[in-house]
Amino acid sequence: MVKKKTKFICQSCGYESPKWMGRCPGCGEWNQMVEEVEMTGRQKKTFIHSESSRISKPSPLITVQSTEEPRTTTNMKEFNRVLGGGIVAGSLVLIGGDPGIGKSTLLLQISSQLASGGHKVLYISGEESAKQIKLRADRLNVDSSNLYIYSETNLELINLAIEQLNPEFVIIDSIQTVYHPEVTSAPGSVSQVRESTAEFMRMAKVQGMAIFIVGHVTKEGSIAGPRILEHMVDTVLYFEGERHHSYRILRAVKNRFGSTNEMGIFEMKETGLIEVENPSEIFLEERAQSASGSTVVASMEGTRPVLVEIQALIAPTSFNYPRRMATGIDHNRVSLLMAVLEKRVGLLLQNQDAYLKVAGGVKLDEPAIDLAVAVSIVSSFRDKPTRSTDCIIGEVGLTGEVRRVTRIEQRVREAEKLGFSRVIIPAHNLGGWNTPGKIEVIGVSTVEEALEYALGG
Ligand SMILES: Nc1ncnc2c1ncn2[C@@H]1O[C@H](COP(=O)(O)OP(=O)(O)OP(=O)(O)O)[C@@H](O)[C@H]1O
Ligand SMILES: [Mg+2]
Repeated sequence: MVKKKTKFICQSCGYESPKWMGRCPGCGEWNQMVEEVEMTGRQKKTFIHSESSRISKPSPLITVQSTEEPRTTTNMKEFNRVLGGGIVAGSLVLIGGDPGIGKSTLLLQISSQLASGGHKVLYISGEESAKQIKLRADRLNVDSSNLYIYSETNLELINLAIEQLNPEFVIIDSIQTVYHPEVTSAPGSVSQVRESTAEFMRMAKVQGMAIFIVGHVTKEGSIAGPRILEHMVDTVLYFEGERHHSYRILRAVKNRFGSTNEMGIFEMKETGLIEVENPSEIFLEERAQSASGSTVVASMEGTRPVLVEIQALIAPTSFNYPRRMATGIDHNRVSLLMAVLEKRVGLLLQNQDAYLKVAGGVKLDEPAIDLAVAVSIVSSFRDKPTRSTDCIIGEVGLTGEVRRVTRIEQRVREAEKLGFSRVIIPAHNLGGWNTPGKIEVIGVSTVEEALEYALGG
């Protein structure tokens, strides 16, 4: 019998090596090499053949037709927005998320809406039987003759079914269960995931259908399988949320057809996912009145301003090195702001532990939140509460100056809409736009000035 040849493949970057290594030379990750059986020449040929079915040749850019890709919109506005305004024909979208977060629920609801709108949808599940899906569909009130369910994991059979049915939208739940019969490694391994994704990509581009792929998430929080998976697809969405809360956030981390700052917010109910139209309200719902260390900022999430609470807890340290912990904000940014407060405002923070948190599980990465973070820190340090009707916006520079931010008008409007009576904004942002009627707008040029207004000196 011929001995099968094996090789070791890095599960995180796809690096190949003839022998096992503790650390991948490709990406530097530890313990990622997994043994896989190599494909024979005959098996490889099948892929080359299927790839070459898409014949094209180099052509001058000016002759290329640049018609905007047609988009299909669903009734879920949050979902459309995250995708950049609807589902693009011929696109391959990867949706990752923790187990049980609601990926299948979301996609079944989307499928149902598309099907009711007259589109043919094929939902392929390798994880649940058709009966299980039917049970969920009944709970979610899904009922359409255009929605087809197929419980299969063999890529060739899936391919065949897609060709016969010729649907406009295909859902693959999940990519880790799909296997190519010609590839000998186990389903979910790098080669399997890579080959199956390449095949779905080809189908999507050739037949012009949109394909959604569900991807499992590893303990570290990235989509299981090689990183190249994220490079291969057009759009990568993450469905996140805390297990103990019913709110779920859908965000784009990569999008070839739109912005990646967008997020959609849903609430998980018995009857499925319901859109949350005004996220600011839920983020501020549990805010304690007149507690020290809490401020509200208007942060832009894509095209939409969202009001979020930033909490800080500053306490004397009992370690040699004070701790700096931040959830939802970059902790380097927190260290930087604390250094600015130390040097420019004269606060002795170096023997204080600092814990920062963005309430509601949102992640903020805009510089416009700087001033609110700084005010939270000082408020907790001095144990002086901020006014609960203040909203604070601004970027902080290294000399302690407050710098201009984008889209100030939208942010201030959102604050006014939610009943805030005062906004503290960069002085450079004053003028050139109409302040909404009721809200008081204060311009500040330095952090010190902002602290004076927010905390009374
Ligand atoms: N009867 C029910 N009432 C309310 N919520 C429910 C009910 N049944 C399930 N759920 C919610 O749906 C979630 C499971 O959703 P779903 O199966 O879509 O998740 P998933 O991300 O696809 O999970 P997996 O990783 O196992 O495929 C549960 O965690 C729960 O919050
Ligand atoms: Mg599922």
